[in-house]
Amino acid sequence: MAVTVAFVSEKGGVGKTTACYHVAIGLRRYHEKRVLVVDADYQRGGISGRFFPDLIEEFDSGAASGTTLYHKFQQLYSAGARTPDVDIRPWEYGSITIDVIPADPRLSTVSVDKLPSTNNIRQNNLMLLGHLQMVDYILSPIQENYDYILIDSHPEVSDVLRSVIYASDYCVSPVKLDRQSSIGVATIIAEINNVNADVDMIRMSVQGVDYTDTVFSGSIGMMAREWAETLKYSEQTEYNRLRRTGGVFETYVTEGDGLRQAAARRMPVYDISGANADKQAGQFRALTDEFAGVCV
Ligand SMILES: Nc1ncnc2c1ncn2[C@@H]1O[C@H](COP(=O)(O)OP(=O)(O)OP(=O)(O)O)[C@@H](O)[C@H]1O
Ligand SMILES: [Mg+2]
Repeated sequence: MAVTVAFVSEKGGVGKTTACYHVAIGLRRYHEKRVLVVDADYQRGGISGRFFPDLIEEFDSGAASGTTLYHKFQQLYSAGARTPDVDIRPWEYGSITIDVIPADPRLSTVSVDKLPSTNNIRQNNLMLLGHLQMVDYILSPIQENYDYILIDSHPEVSDVLRSVIYASDYCVSPVKLDRQSSIGVATIIAEINNVNADVDMIRMSVQGVDYTDTVFSGSIGMMAREWAETLKYSEQTEYNRLRRTGGVFETYVTEGDGLRQAAARRMPVYDISGANADKQAGQFRALTDEFAGVCV
Protein backbone atom coordinates (compact mmCIF):
# COMPACT_ATOMS: atom_id res chain seq x y z
CA MET A 1 0.00 0.00 0.00
CA ALA A 2 1.35 3.41 -0.98
CA VAL A 3 2.36 6.06 1.53
CA THR A 4 0.57 9.26 0.54
CA VAL A 5 2.22 12.57 1.37
CA ALA A 6 0.96 16.07 0.55
CA PHE A 7 3.21 19.09 0.13
CA VAL A 8 1.22 21.96 1.60
CA SER A 9 1.78 25.55 2.64
CA GLU A 10 -0.30 28.59 3.25
CA LYS A 11 2.14 30.80 1.38
CA GLY A 12 2.91 30.68 -2.33
CA GLY A 13 6.33 30.55 -3.93
CA VAL A 14 8.05 28.85 -1.02
CA GLY A 15 9.33 25.80 -2.89
CA LYS A 16 6.51 23.23 -2.56
CA THR A 17 6.65 22.22 -6.21
CA THR A 18 10.46 22.19 -6.26
CA ALA A 19 10.53 20.00 -3.16
CA CYS A 20 7.80 17.62 -4.37
CA TYR A 21 9.49 17.23 -7.78
CA HIS A 22 12.94 16.50 -6.36
CA VAL A 23 11.74 14.17 -3.63
CA ALA A 24 9.64 12.27 -6.22
CA ILE A 25 12.64 11.83 -8.51
CA GLY A 26 14.93 11.09 -5.54
CA LEU A 27 12.62 8.32 -4.29
CA ARG A 28 12.39 6.80 -7.77
CA ARG A 29 16.04 7.11 -8.69
CA TYR A 30 17.91 6.56 -5.43
CA HIS A 31 15.44 4.41 -3.48
CA GLU A 32 13.88 2.53 -6.42
CA LYS A 33 10.38 3.36 -5.24
CA ARG A 34 7.33 3.38 -7.51
CA VAL A 35 6.06 6.95 -7.44
CA LEU A 36 2.83 8.68 -8.46
CA VAL A 37 2.69 12.48 -8.40
CA VAL A 38 -0.72 14.15 -8.16
CA ASP A 39 -0.94 17.80 -9.16
CA ALA A 40 -3.73 19.34 -7.12
CA ASP A 41 -2.58 22.89 -7.87
CA TYR A 42 -4.72 24.95 -10.19
CA GLN A 43 -2.31 27.72 -11.01
CA ARG A 44 0.11 28.01 -13.88
CA GLY A 45 3.65 26.83 -13.27
CA GLY A 46 2.87 23.83 -11.12
CA ILE A 47 4.49 20.42 -11.16
CA SER A 48 2.58 19.22 -14.27
CA GLY A 49 4.37 21.84 -16.36
CA ARG A 50 7.69 20.88 -14.82
CA PHE A 51 7.20 17.30 -15.97
CA PHE A 52 5.36 18.06 -19.23
CA PRO A 53 6.10 21.51 -20.71
CA ASP A 54 3.33 21.04 -23.31
CA LEU A 55 0.79 21.14 -20.50
CA ILE A 56 1.66 24.77 -19.66
CA GLU A 57 0.06 25.99 -22.88
CA GLU A 58 -2.95 23.79 -22.37
CA PHE A 59 -3.21 25.09 -18.82
CA ASP A 60 -3.28 28.68 -20.09
CA SER A 61 -6.32 27.83 -22.21
CA GLY A 62 -8.19 27.27 -18.94
CA ALA A 63 -8.87 23.59 -19.43
CA ALA A 64 -7.08 20.26 -19.43
CA SER A 65 -7.56 17.28 -21.68
CA GLY A 66 -8.71 13.90 -20.49
CA THR A 67 -10.35 12.99 -17.21
CA THR A 68 -9.00 14.91 -14.23
CA LEU A 69 -9.75 15.40 -10.55
CA TYR A 70 -12.05 18.25 -11.58
CA HIS A 71 -14.42 15.87 -13.41
CA LYS A 72 -14.65 13.70 -10.34
CA PHE A 73 -15.76 16.58 -8.12
CA GLN A 74 -18.25 17.55 -10.83
CA GLN A 75 -19.87 14.15 -10.50
CA LEU A 76 -20.74 15.06 -6.92
CA TYR A 77 -22.30 18.36 -7.93
CA SER A 78 -24.50 16.79 -10.57
CA ALA A 79 -25.39 14.00 -8.15
CA GLY A 80 -24.49 11.48 -10.88
CA ALA A 81 -22.75 8.16 -10.37
CA ARG A 82 -19.24 8.36 -8.91
CA THR A 83 -16.40 6.75 -10.84
CA PRO A 84 -12.79 6.86 -9.63
CA ASP A 85 -10.95 6.71 -13.00
CA VAL A 86 -8.63 9.61 -13.92
CA ASP A 87 -6.00 9.90 -16.64
CA ILE A 88 -2.44 9.14 -15.60
CA ARG A 89 0.46 10.25 -17.76
CA PRO A 90 3.86 8.56 -17.42
CA TRP A 91 6.92 10.84 -17.31
CA GLU A 92 9.87 9.05 -18.83
CA TYR A 93 13.29 10.41 -18.03
CA GLY A 94 16.43 8.41 -18.77
CA SER A 95 15.78 5.00 -17.31
CA ILE A 96 13.14 6.10 -14.80
CA THR A 97 9.38 6.55 -15.05
CA ILE A 98 7.17 8.53 -12.71
CA ASP A 99 3.39 8.52 -13.14
CA VAL A 100 1.62 11.88 -12.96
CA ILE A 101 -2.01 12.89 -12.58
CA PRO A 102 -1.85 16.32 -14.23
CA ALA A 103 -3.43 19.51 -12.92
CA ASP A 104 -6.67 21.05 -14.11
CA PRO A 105 -7.13 24.83 -13.78
CA ARG A 106 -10.86 24.29 -13.27
CA LEU A 107 -10.08 22.78 -9.86
CA SER A 108 -10.21 26.39 -8.66
CA THR A 109 -14.00 26.18 -8.98
CA VAL A 110 -14.32 23.17 -6.67
CA SER A 111 -16.29 23.98 -3.54
CA VAL A 112 -18.71 22.23 -1.20
CA ASP A 113 -21.07 25.15 -1.91
CA LYS A 114 -21.84 23.46 -5.23
CA LEU A 115 -23.15 20.28 -3.65
CA PRO A 116 -26.88 19.83 -4.11
CA SER A 117 -28.43 20.88 -0.84
CA THR A 118 -31.37 19.25 0.83
CA ASN A 119 -33.12 19.92 4.10
CA ASN A 120 -31.99 16.54 5.37
CA ILE A 121 -29.07 16.91 7.76
CA ARG A 122 -27.87 13.34 7.36
CA GLN A 123 -27.99 13.57 3.57
CA ASN A 124 -26.05 16.83 3.64
CA ASN A 125 -23.40 15.38 5.92
CA LEU A 126 -22.98 12.34 3.69
CA MET A 127 -22.42 14.62 0.71
CA LEU A 128 -19.87 16.68 2.63
CA LEU A 129 -18.12 13.44 3.56
CA GLY A 130 -18.14 12.34 -0.10
CA HIS A 131 -16.50 15.64 -1.04
CA LEU A 132 -13.84 15.26 1.63
CA GLN A 133 -13.18 11.68 0.49
CA MET A 134 -12.97 12.43 -3.24
CA VAL A 135 -9.16 12.43 -3.68
CA ASP A 136 -8.90 9.32 -1.50
CA TYR A 137 -11.65 7.64 -3.54
CA ILE A 138 -9.70 8.31 -6.76
CA LEU A 139 -6.41 7.03 -5.33
CA SER A 140 -7.79 3.92 -3.60
CA PRO A 141 -8.02 1.65 -6.67
CA ILE A 142 -4.51 2.53 -7.91
CA GLN A 143 -2.54 2.86 -4.73
CA GLU A 144 -1.33 -0.75 -4.80
CA ASN A 145 0.67 0.20 -7.91
CA TYR A 146 2.89 2.60 -5.96
CA ASP A 147 5.15 2.88 -2.94
CA TYR A 148 4.65 6.64 -2.68
CA ILE A 149 1.95 9.02 -3.83
CA LEU A 150 3.09 12.64 -3.55
CA ILE A 151 0.53 15.43 -3.89
CA ASP A 152 1.54 18.97 -4.84
CA SER A 153 -1.02 21.57 -3.78
CA HIS A 154 -2.20 25.13 -4.12
CA PRO A 155 -1.20 27.57 -1.35
CA GLU A 156 -4.68 28.13 0.01
CA VAL A 157 -6.92 26.45 2.55
CA SER A 158 -9.72 25.20 0.29
CA ASP A 159 -12.10 22.30 -0.15
CA VAL A 160 -9.59 20.75 -2.57
CA LEU A 161 -6.88 21.01 0.08
CA ARG A 162 -9.17 19.42 2.68
CA SER A 163 -9.77 16.48 0.36
CA VAL A 164 -6.00 16.24 -0.23
CA ILE A 165 -5.40 16.22 3.54
CA TYR A 166 -8.01 13.46 3.97
CA ALA A 167 -6.29 11.33 1.32
CA SER A 168 -2.83 11.78 2.84
CA ASP A 169 -1.08 9.80 5.53
CA TYR A 170 1.33 12.69 6.08
CA CYS A 171 1.64 16.37 5.22
CA VAL A 172 4.94 18.21 4.95
CA SER A 173 5.23 21.96 4.65
CA PRO A 174 8.04 23.54 2.63
CA VAL A 175 8.74 27.03 4.01
CA LYS A 176 11.10 29.94 3.62
CA LEU A 177 12.79 30.54 6.94
CA ASP A 178 11.37 34.03 7.45
CA ARG A 179 9.46 35.49 10.36
CA GLN A 180 6.06 34.55 8.95
CA SER A 181 6.72 30.89 8.23
CA SER A 182 5.84 29.44 11.63
CA ILE A 183 2.54 31.37 11.55
CA GLY A 184 1.68 29.85 8.16
CA VAL A 185 2.64 26.39 9.40
CA ALA A 186 0.32 26.81 12.41
CA THR A 187 -2.55 27.52 9.99
CA ILE A 188 -1.82 24.34 8.05
CA ILE A 189 -1.57 22.25 11.22
CA ALA A 190 -4.91 23.71 12.36
CA GLU A 191 -6.52 22.65 9.07
CA ILE A 192 -5.12 19.12 9.36
CA ASN A 193 -6.57 18.96 12.89
CA ASN A 194 -9.89 20.26 11.55
CA VAL A 195 -10.11 17.49 8.96
CA ASN A 196 -9.21 14.85 11.56
CA ALA A 197 -11.80 16.23 13.98
CA ASP A 198 -14.50 16.45 11.29
CA VAL A 199 -13.97 12.80 10.42
CA ASP A 200 -14.10 11.88 14.11
CA MET A 201 -17.47 13.53 14.42
CA ILE A 202 -18.90 12.02 11.26
CA ARG A 203 -17.70 8.55 12.25
CA MET A 204 -20.06 8.65 15.20
CA SER A 205 -23.02 8.49 12.84
CA VAL A 206 -21.69 6.92 9.63
CA GLN A 207 -20.33 3.40 9.65
CA GLY A 208 -17.46 2.09 7.55
CA VAL A 209 -15.33 5.24 7.36
CA ASP A 210 -11.85 3.78 7.21
CA TYR A 211 -9.62 6.66 8.24
CA THR A 212 -6.39 7.13 10.16
CA ASP A 213 -5.60 10.66 11.32
CA THR A 214 -3.38 12.59 8.92
CA VAL A 215 -0.07 13.42 10.56
CA PHE A 216 1.90 16.62 10.11
CA SER A 217 5.45 15.35 9.76
CA GLY A 218 7.23 18.68 9.70
CA SER A 219 8.31 21.77 7.82
CA ILE A 220 11.09 21.70 5.27
CA GLY A 221 13.38 24.74 5.13
CA MET A 222 13.62 25.90 1.52
CA MET A 223 15.64 28.73 -0.08
CA ALA A 224 17.63 28.89 3.16
CA ARG A 225 20.43 31.42 3.40
CA GLU A 226 23.72 30.54 4.98
CA TRP A 227 26.68 32.40 6.33
CA ALA A 228 29.91 30.39 6.41
CA GLU A 229 28.08 27.13 5.76
CA THR A 230 25.63 27.51 8.62
CA LEU A 231 22.18 29.08 8.66
CA LYS A 232 22.10 32.85 9.05
CA TYR A 233 21.19 33.88 12.58
CA SER A 234 17.63 35.03 11.82
CA GLU A 235 16.96 31.88 9.78
CA GLN A 236 18.34 29.66 12.54
CA THR A 237 15.98 31.41 14.97
CA GLU A 238 13.03 30.68 12.70
CA TYR A 239 14.23 27.12 12.18
CA ASN A 240 14.22 26.64 15.96
CA ARG A 241 10.73 28.12 16.16
CA LEU A 242 9.54 25.63 13.53
CA ARG A 243 11.00 22.81 15.59
CA ARG A 244 8.52 23.80 18.29
CA THR A 245 5.68 24.25 15.76
CA GLY A 246 5.05 20.69 14.64
CA GLY A 247 8.68 19.83 13.93
CA VAL A 248 11.12 20.48 11.11
CA PHE A 249 13.23 18.26 8.85
CA GLU A 250 16.93 18.23 9.76
CA THR A 251 17.81 18.78 6.10
CA TYR A 252 17.16 22.17 4.55
CA VAL A 253 17.80 23.32 1.00
CA THR A 254 19.78 26.47 0.37
CA GLU A 255 18.87 29.30 -1.97
CA GLY A 256 20.97 29.22 -5.11
CA ASP A 257 21.53 29.12 -8.82
CA GLY A 258 21.58 25.34 -9.22
CA LEU A 259 17.83 25.07 -8.69
CA ARG A 260 17.16 28.12 -10.85
CA GLN A 261 19.10 26.55 -13.72
CA ALA A 262 17.36 23.23 -13.16
CA ALA A 263 13.95 24.94 -13.34
CA ALA A 264 14.88 26.81 -16.52
CA ARG A 265 16.06 23.59 -18.18
CA ARG A 266 13.17 21.55 -16.75
CA MET A 267 15.59 19.04 -15.29
CA PRO A 268 16.20 17.86 -11.76
CA VAL A 269 19.10 19.59 -10.02
CA TYR A 270 20.63 16.12 -9.69
CA ASP A 271 21.62 16.40 -13.36
CA ILE A 272 22.91 19.98 -13.42
CA SER A 273 26.65 20.54 -13.19
CA GLY A 274 28.39 23.19 -11.12
CA ALA A 275 29.39 23.62 -7.49
CA ASN A 276 26.09 25.15 -6.36
CA ALA A 277 24.01 22.55 -8.19
CA ASP A 278 26.12 19.79 -6.61
CA LYS A 279 25.44 21.23 -3.19
CA GLN A 280 21.68 21.51 -3.79
CA ALA A 281 21.58 18.03 -5.35
CA GLY A 282 23.29 16.68 -2.21
CA GLN A 283 20.76 18.47 -0.03
CA PHE A 284 17.83 17.01 -1.96
CA ARG A 285 19.32 13.53 -1.76
CA ALA A 286 19.70 13.94 2.01
CA LEU A 287 16.16 15.32 2.22
CA THR A 288 14.83 12.33 0.24
CA ASP A 289 16.63 9.93 2.61
CA GLU A 290 15.18 11.72 5.62
CA PHE A 291 11.73 11.84 4.00
CA ALA A 292 11.81 8.07 3.36
CA GLY A 293 12.68 7.55 7.04
CA VAL A 294 9.92 9.84 8.35
CA CYS A 295 7.05 9.14 5.96
CA VAL A 296 6.70 5.37 6.30
N1 LIG B 1 16.49 26.79 -3.19
C1 LIG B 1 16.14 27.54 -4.23
N2 LIG B 1 17.01 28.41 -4.77
C2 LIG B 1 16.66 29.20 -5.80
N3 LIG B 1 15.47 29.19 -6.40
C3 LIG B 1 14.56 28.33 -5.91
C4 LIG B 1 14.83 27.46 -4.81
N4 LIG B 1 13.74 26.72 -4.56
C5 LIG B 1 12.83 27.11 -5.46
N5 LIG B 1 13.29 28.08 -6.27
C6 LIG B 1 12.55 28.80 -7.32
O1 LIG B 1 11.56 29.59 -6.68
C7 LIG B 1 10.36 29.62 -7.44
C8 LIG B 1 9.20 29.15 -6.58
O2 LIG B 1 9.38 27.80 -6.25
P1 LIG B 1 8.18 26.75 -6.33
O3 LIG B 1 7.44 26.91 -7.61
O4 LIG B 1 8.75 25.42 -6.02
O5 LIG B 1 7.29 27.26 -5.12
P2 LIG B 1 5.79 26.85 -4.75
O6 LIG B 1 5.68 26.90 -3.28
O7 LIG B 1 5.43 25.56 -5.41
O8 LIG B 1 4.96 28.03 -5.41
P3 LIG B 1 3.36 28.09 -5.59
O9 LIG B 1 2.81 28.31 -4.22
O10 LIG B 1 3.16 29.23 -6.51
O11 LIG B 1 2.94 26.76 -6.15
C9 LIG B 1 10.61 28.73 -8.66
O12 LIG B 1 10.97 29.56 -9.73
C10 LIG B 1 11.77 27.85 -8.23
O13 LIG B 1 12.56 27.43 -9.32
MG1 LIG C 1 3.82 25.07 -6.65
